[in-house]
Amino acid sequence: MSTQTHEHDVHDRVIVLAGAGGLAAATAARLGAGGAKLVIGDLSIDAAEAAADAARANGGEARAVQLDISDQASVNALIASAMSEFGRIDGLLNIAADIRPQNLGRDSDAVDIPLEVWQHTIDVNLTGYLLTTRAAIPHMLAGGGGSIVNIISGAVYIGEPVRLAYAVTKAGITALTRHIASRWGSEGIRANSLAPGGVLTKAMMANITQEQRDASLATIPNTRLGKPDDIAAMAIHLLSEDGAWIQGQSISVDGGLTMRP
Ligand SMILES: NC(=O)c1ccc[n+]([C@@H]2O[C@H](COP(=O)([O-])OP(=O)(O)OC[C@H]3O[C@@H](n4cnc5c(N)ncnc54)[C@H](O)[C@@H]3O)[C@@H](O)[C@H]2O)c1
Repeated sequence: MSTQTHEHDVHDRVIVLAGAGGLAAATAARLGAGGAKLVIGDLSIDAAEAAADAARANGGEARAVQLDISDQASVNALIASAMSEFGRIDGLLNIAADIRPQNLGRDSDAVDIPLEVWQHTIDVNLTGYLLTTRAAIPHMLAGGGGSIVNIISGAVYIGEPVRLAYAVTKAGITALTRHIASRWGSEGIRANSLAPGGVLTKAMMANITQEQRDASLATIPNTRLGKPDDIAAMAIHLLSEDGAWIQGQSISVDGGLTMRP
């Protein structure tokens, strides 16, 4: 028996990243190190370029495009870009979400949430994932299959007094994920949801005090908060052949967020 260890094999896999924030950039860097070919879209072209740079710095191929995930024409352009650049699509990582303070900060409770915040959150966080899915699947089927990874959140499980629309969209994505697995699994498409807990991205590191960190750590049975690489490792496992028998699942990578003390 071989004792050789290996990185998840993503060499030459064509993977579309819909969203390019902190967690996506860490994932792009590792996918690049594995020799993947990436097309990365984000509302912020600067974020998309930064994630593509991180992948290229590690030896991968990557192209950045501007994307509004809530707009089908923009999503179609992202998928068309992957097809024209690399000729097929093996993986799709849906990771965009509008967590800016001006949106998430107004995402309150069922009585008070402004309906425009509710609708915008559904358009981006949930309908956006449908739009990328429906654009990518025909190409994946033509290529013999593919892996779709949808980023959800621990917010689905913990039941919070605020951030209603956020939790509802993330819960909705779990149903979308299971639908995809059920509908196209026998044709070679896998779909799984990945639920991060509190992960300190570079942007968050800049905005959080030591007291806030300590308070957050006190809510989980662990010795540290999450790192972007914790999420990237699982995303890549699910995107690679190592995850070939994981289908329709919601996997938490959260340091134990939902454990009782
Ligand atoms: N960081 C955490 O602790 C954490 C915890 C649980 C879940 N998550 C989830 O992980 C994912 C990534 O989070 P992150 O921390 O990297 O956040 P982030 O804000 O750095 O990344 C989200 C990205 O989505 C992009 N985006 C927003 N609206 C868009 C649109 N209409 N079209 C295209 N792109 C759009 C933003 O520009 C941003 O780059 C999100 O889905 C988030 O809900 C994060």
